[in-house]
Amino acid sequence: MATMIPFSTAFTQAVQFGLLTAVHLPDDPSPVPEKVLARLPKAELAYAQTLRGYRQVSFVGGRLALHETLGQLRMPNDPVLNDAHGCPVMPAGMTGSISHKRTLAVAIVARSRHGQLGLDLEDLNPARMHVAEKVLRPEELKELLELPPERQWTSLLLRFSLKEAVYKVLNPTLRRYIDFQEARIHLDLDLTASVDLYLKDPKEPSFSLDGRYQWMDGRVLTMMRLRPDAHSGLPLNGNKGRLKGSTEAL
Ligand SMILES: CC(C)(COP(=O)(O)OP(=O)(O)OC[C@H]1O[C@@H](n2cnc3c(N)ncnc32)[C@H](O)[C@@H]1OP(=O)(O)O)[C@@H](O)C(=O)NCCC(=O)NCCS
Repeated sequence: MATMIPFSTAFTQAVQFGLLTAVHLPDDPSPVPEKVLARLPKAELAYAQTLRGYRQVSFVGGRLALHETLGQLRMPNDPVLNDAHGCPVMPAGMTGSISHKRTLAVAIVARSRHGQLGLDLEDLNPARMHVAEKVLRPEELKELLELPPERQWTSLLLRFSLKEAVYKVLNPTLRRYIDFQEARIHLDLDLTASVDLYLKDPKEPSFSLDGRYQWMDGRVLTMMRLRPDAHSGLPLNGNKGRLKGSTEAL
């Protein structure tokens, strides 16, 4: 098996919504070596130095992945700090999102004219079926329980991860906590997903969301894109994000 050098690039890959980079992380909370920290723009370096343990490791890995991607797009190596909600503030005209799990950090970047992006990475194991009731709406739970038992966990994990990606793409616009019950995910076998939103506040506008997922060596990677024409003016509850006619519960 190839040696995973901590903080090295695992891959950069074009995916449907943008350019994605993954960076190896050490499974170890030791301080990030100075040589690695020095690869960050100054303001990010200063912030990273305030962090400890795995939080420092994951922040640095996510930023290295983000800058590798921005560099591939010939963007300057300017610092990308988080806003008060934790969302990375991207350079003008760009959208980006970060996720990290244990030994991998990922970042996706695209031009914002194609829509805003949210990204999430989850480990396939261990299975945690007990989160189903919190994560799923009653109709999603019913669909899940109709699946063969060996498919239930992956279906739940996909929905969980896609909802986290929904949060990352909607929170910067709505500026509030969004509960798992406020979205219903429809999974399709062709690695796409659509979303119905059930936003709690009836005054909030509707949004058009488009999801993708892919399996990666013991992990799932999910992406959500908020369309630029998001404010469609449709009624708020039900069927607002559906882009596809057919749905199969996975
Ligand atoms: C914020 C949240 C989605 C982050 O997910 P996570 O699995 O804990 O962590 P990840 O590694 O995947 O993502 C962390 C990265 O997300 C980004 N992020 C954090 N808050 C964000 C926000 N409000 N908006 C956009 N991106 C955000 C940051 O880049 C962060 O990494 P960094 O701090 O190193 O820059 C999660 O902690 C959370 O609060 N979820 C509950 C709410 C929810 O998911 N509701 C479902 C609505 S349908």
